[in-house]
Amino acid sequence: MKEASAVGVASGKVILLGEHSVVYGEPAIAAAIDRQLEVTVRPRSGGNPYGAIGNRQRLAIARAAQRFGIEPETLMVEVRSEIPMGCGLGSSAAFSLALIRALSLFSRKPLLDGEVASRAAEIENVFHGTASGVDLAAAVQGGVIWFERFSAAPIVELLPPEPLDLVIALSGKPRGTFGPVSRLRDRYERFPKLYGRMFRLTGDVVRSARIALAAGDLELLGSLMNAAHGLLNALGVSTPTIDRMVRLARSAGAVGAKLTGAGGGGAVIALAPRGAEAVVSALAEEGFESFVTRLSVREPKGSQ
Ligand code: PMV
Repeated sequence: MKEASAVGVASGKVILLGEHSVVYGEPAIAAAIDRQLEVTVRPRSGGNPYGAIGNRQRLAIARAAQRFGIEPETLMVEVRSEIPMGCGLGSSAAFSLALIRALSLFSRKPLLDGEVASRAAEIENVFHGTASGVDLAAAVQGGVIWFERFSAAPIVELLPPEPLDLVIALSGKPRGTFGPVSRLRDRYERFPKLYGRMFRLTGDVVRSARIALAAGDLELLGSLMNAAHGLLNALGVSTPTIDRMVRLARSAGAVGAKLTGAGGGGAVIALAPRGAEAVVSALAEEGFESFVTRLSVREPKGSQ
């Protein structure tokens, strides 16, 4: 027997440092954000099955439904999102996770946490090709995480001593993950030693940032975010608009600012412990929407 309707919810994410190099096995630091996406699944009673949903989402729904032994045509699926879509803030991972959670409830087939994550990863790949898994890891785990895709324990919860306020600014230029990731792979395959060195250097920046974060040294963390942005520029994934936003944020007092996610548009993050609102105002004056998010520090479960 099936539920009349079922709802799955998942959070968006932000990558603090380590995007792109994380695909090649280097670490990344990421966090869930307090913006959520909700998927509602109910039996179809005529009409358009999916409302205003794109082709990739249809494909993802069909694949996910089949995994639960459900004919996709029998479903009505609605998506409501507080996460800006296509900005590198984890909307695809949140959609995949919320969809699996909703279908599990709808079909009354409970899954273990690991099964939810692996099914959601399969669905996320409909959007991203082969994603590193960092977006999904942040959404599944919550809080602030350390992620290393090829490690025996890929996700480690980080416990910053204080909550961290981060400005997230939208460039207004939507982008996909697949394009920037595959173009960078082409460059890497052409010059593996050079690009491999840049990935490892980024990994060193991320490892240093973990130390700065654990010590609550936000000035140092900001400097390392700036270094990471410089490396992302060297990797060729920033844009003039993103660079302008980064400069605006730093001029308004941010100790660190960088692109977040795949680049080629999308979003910028800025750390401004002495005045996030000044950064928001400076960006707004130039027409860029931004908001402040407090990265949740979860209750300690053990030592870091
Ligand atoms: O989807 P985005 O923009 O958050 O990018 C994901 C991060 C990348 O490192 C660029 C890709 C990946 O799979 O990790």
